[in-house]
Amino acid sequence: MTYSMTQPAELAVAGGTPIRPSTRRWPTWPIPAPEAESLLREVLHSGRWAITSPEGSELFERRFAREFARYLGVRHCVPVDHGSSALVVAMEVLDLQYGDVVLVPALTWTACATAALRAGLVPLLVDVDPDSGCVTPEFLDQDVEARALVAVHWACTMADVPALTAAAEPRGMVVIEDAAQAHGGEWRGRQAGSMGRLGCFSFQNGKPLTAGEGGAVVTDDPTLAPRLEELRADSRRYRGTSAPPGDLDLEESATIQGANHCMSEFNAAVLCAQLAVLDREGEVRSRNWRRLRELLAGVPGVRLLEPRPEQTRMSMYEATIVFDELPGAMTIEEVAGALSAELGRRFYATDTPLHRSPLLAPWTKPTLAPLAKRFVDLHAGRSYPNADYWANHCVQTHHSAFLGDERDMRDIADAIAKIVTARGPVVEGQASAHGLG
Ligand SMILES: Cc1ncc(COP(=O)(O)O)c(C=O)c1O
Repeated sequence: MTYSMTQPAELAVAGGTPIRPSTRRWPTWPIPAPEAESLLREVLHSGRWAITSPEGSELFERRFAREFARYLGVRHCVPVDHGSSALVVAMEVLDLQYGDVVLVPALTWTACATAALRAGLVPLLVDVDPDSGCVTPEFLDQDVEARALVAVHWACTMADVPALTAAAEPRGMVVIEDAAQAHGGEWRGRQAGSMGRLGCFSFQNGKPLTAGEGGAVVTDDPTLAPRLEELRADSRRYRGTSAPPGDLDLEESATIQGANHCMSEFNAAVLCAQLAVLDREGEVRSRNWRRLRELLAGVPGVRLLEPRPEQTRMSMYEATIVFDELPGAMTIEEVAGALSAELGRRFYATDTPLHRSPLLAPWTKPTLAPLAKRFVDLHAGRSYPNADYWANHCVQTHHSAFLGDERDMRDIADAIAKIVTARGPVVEGQASAHGLG
């Protein structure tokens, strides 16, 4: 069915017929890559399920580190158990002082801020750009002396890491590039995650490159790489030579206090397999996303969040539909609910910005008390109008919606047009202009 914008129809949330019949399935996620099963079997029978297993065949963790570093064009990759751990060790490796300030965009997942607290630092939230949803140099706080910035690529747009680095470094701030939502994206031909002094990734279940859980820190800096290894393996790093019989590949180098953030061999094997399909899946998503953009071109008050022109390859964790004009008197949560009902998949308002997120509450943990007090003091009187705008005007859906075909895009466009038409002014002649008539 193709929905006409000139014929308002009852929304599915109000009992009307949904745009998409429930019999039409959406692509599932995650999708096991062709090699995943055989590599998992290999681990199962290898006698090495962890990097702390006695020496033997090559660790998948080493193989993934090598292949991912090559993919990104960086020198070093240190896999870890979660993206949050990647951020923690990236902050720890910088030798900052307890209580130093780290700038974190207000529009991101809570882990960016909680990682700072876990590393003994204080996150200071900064507002984001009204066009990209990412932090830009003008939003780097001038009043507070900060030592690091977490530059987050958000949803399907990339932050301008070179510009942020040019603005941050003269002020003594290190840029940690958070590419947890940007696998495969490129900025002027450079891979997401490869541009900051350190780049951090998550391989959690929803991410375009996933093993269920997992993460990695990457860097070109040869002084940071061995210390990152120690920080994630209880102060141990890989030996320069092969391990003595029955011994570990790790040695107790112990130059910096570490903890256990190691990636399991099962996760590493899955990641080796999934990396092989990352770009192919990315192309399908980009093609479908471009088609949806065409279909929505004439729908009034609605647009897709667009990557900036410098982004030479799209990355997508969540597609973001911006309702600059909210249909009728609907809240963004109601728009998301209406879209979900029309399409039979989850559409949602973006995560609550961190300045009002219930997930960022360091005062609830007594051991964080000194950091929590500074956190509260630093944020007194601050506001985040752009982050709030994004939160109040955009609806997101998981990237897997873009792994199907053109029909899926027509359904999404038709559902959006239906909601705009049912609750907003009917715009004569728009439908045929953008192919929805
Ligand atoms: C931007 C960003 N940074 C960090 C993380 C944390 O990753 P993980 O969930 O693997 O700990 C996430 C997770 O969604 C994220 O979106």
